[in-house]
Amino acid sequence: MSQQKFYVTTPIYYVNSSPHIGNAYTTIAADVIARFKRAMGYEVMFLTGTDEHGHKVQSAAEERGVEPSEYVDQMAEVWRRLWSKLQIRYDDFVRTTQPRHKKAVLRLFERMSASGDIYQGEYEGWYCKHEENFLTDHQVKDGRCPDCGRPVERFKEPSFFFRLSRYEKPLLEYYDSHPEFIRPSFRLNEARSFVSQGLRDLSISRFRLSWGIPIPDGKGCTFYVWIDALTNYLTGIGFGEDDSQFERFWPCDLHVIGKDILKFHCVFWPAMLMSAGIPLPKTIFNHGWLRVAGRKMSKSVGNVVDPFFLVERYGADAVRYFLMRDIQFGLDGNFSEENLISRLNDDLANDLGNLVYRTLSMCAKYFDGQIPPRSGSGGDLLAGECERAFSKYQGLMERLDFRGALEAIWELIGAANTFIDHKRPWQLFGQKREDELCGVLYSVLETERIILLMLLPFIPKAASEMLGYIGVQPESDEILPERVKWGGLSFGRRIGEFGPPFEKIQPAEAFVPEAAVSSADNEKKEDSAMDKPVVTIDEFGRMDLVVGKIVGAEPVSGSRKLFKLDVDIGTEVRTAVAGLRDYYQPDELVGKKVAFIANLAPAKIFGVESEGMVLAADGEVVSLLVIDKDVPVGTKIR
Ligand code: ME8
Ligand code: MG
Repeated sequence: MSQQKFYVTTPIYYVNSSPHIGNAYTTIAADVIARFKRAMGYEVMFLTGTDEHGHKVQSAAEERGVEPSEYVDQMAEVWRRLWSKLQIRYDDFVRTTQPRHKKAVLRLFERMSASGDIYQGEYEGWYCKHEENFLTDHQVKDGRCPDCGRPVERFKEPSFFFRLSRYEKPLLEYYDSHPEFIRPSFRLNEARSFVSQGLRDLSISRFRLSWGIPIPDGKGCTFYVWIDALTNYLTGIGFGEDDSQFERFWPCDLHVIGKDILKFHCVFWPAMLMSAGIPLPKTIFNHGWLRVAGRKMSKSVGNVVDPFFLVERYGADAVRYFLMRDIQFGLDGNFSEENLISRLNDDLANDLGNLVYRTLSMCAKYFDGQIPPRSGSGGDLLAGECERAFSKYQGLMERLDFRGALEAIWELIGAANTFIDHKRPWQLFGQKREDELCGVLYSVLETERIILLMLLPFIPKAASEMLGYIGVQPESDEILPERVKWGGLSFGRRIGEFGPPFEKIQPAEAFVPEAAVSSADNEKKEDSAMDKPVVTIDEFGRMDLVVGKIVGAEPVSGSRKLFKLDVDIGTEVRTAVAGLRDYYQPDELVGKKVAFIANLAPAKIFGVESEGMVLAADGEVVSLLVIDKDVPVGTKIR
């Protein structure tokens, strides 16, 4: 039987700015899958790259006063450098400015034209250059983009259109018959509801935007950047250039993306492929948002976390491990440097690092640095645990439940540590019970080998280093389920030089960006103003207080006192739960401009995620702090 293939992709990232931790998160997840699949014996194609055309990138180059082509060359290198620092092992890197990509875009366009799905007309509507997204009148609020809050622009220009409307029914049918097409399943529902509301034809060109791929006979039009970008998934495997490679890897097994670009991947992309007569990818996995102190990380909020800094400070393995362990893949999660540090200290340095270090030390001390034979009595005591852990791990990895898979490994680490504590090898040594000592130590070392093989996709650098101590090559022709069979460790082999595999970091040394928020949470308990400690102006300044406009108010079901408010804070519309039902009617609230704290840690209240708080005088009379002049939303409050 020929080798099975696995094709996995990340989004290609815009090069208008440097990478942030959210981009790294997606790419790390894809890398973990790719490494796991390679270990399982698949021929893997792991594709990433950069999205280099469009308004947004062109403006970034203009702001810096350089030619776009020069700018994108520099930026693509920044992205590649990060991936190398993070131990990302991709197989190819598509840049949308590459000639091979232009060919692929033109070829796809020809096929869509041949299906009669392309026509010329005039586009009139709104466009957000930052999101590179077309918007309807209904979506635009106060002249701003609903996603990023930036002002939108009105376009009226000649345009090429794709008959997206034709694919409404085929898409719905496809969703229904392919439950694994969009994951997690609640995202499938989201796509379905989007399509069910009706699809309008899509403008696929930009008039007089020079920074893009020109449309043949397009009179000065270039391709809409999303049409251009999505095609990268075909480019990377030789569409239009290398048919055998393309046939081998298409359809793609897994597109990993963030939920922000669901519409483009789960609606536009499959429709484009249907039009071109190309089979659809097998799965599109939409993961959640990384938030910082409860807020979506974004440049405009100014809370982006720099992945270069994190790798420099904590190492690639700790960053990778933290992201995969702390956040349930598919759901939103909080990025917190404090949690990263405790994962590094508690899980990596303590649980794993100590297990490895103490067993190697015993090996050095009791067996002169040689791996003892398996033959001792009690030598296979952990075999069953290892087998169970691996089968759990394998199942969870296949489901992309990285957190679950790591938990299964950590259970095994715990079992091995407990085993040592119970068996007390130091006593066995003291009592010269060598046969038992061999068995115990071999068992633990063998368990360690199996643990480290399972950990390779997550912490490739540290795991290969630790495997090296016990003479195991990180890579092998043997597939993982064979490799983890009990008894693979060869005895008599000398262990290498070793040290503690992870260094702990003192939390006090670390910069903890959300300290302000978590302590604010604790202080809720203190009622009287008199009891509160003095705050410095800097401490006060950590509160992100802004003018917000209440644009919606409805009762929270299940509660008698609470409203769910929609508060426009300029950059976005936040949900805030407020106990105001005894004091205000919904229509009294809507339209009021109020003081709003935007960086409060989020909280779930009666099932509603509250992302901030409106401020009010809270005494016998409850009164909102209303802004008494006409001040734009988003204005800072001090
Ligand atoms: O959208 N949390 O590129 P982009 C988690 N060029 N993931 C995040 C994140 C966060 N806070 N912020 C960003 C584009 N991401 C297009 C894609 S693909 C044909 C074209 C990740 O640079 C997440 O994967 O804006 C998201 O989908 C992607 O970065 C967006 O990157
Ligand atoms: Mg984006």
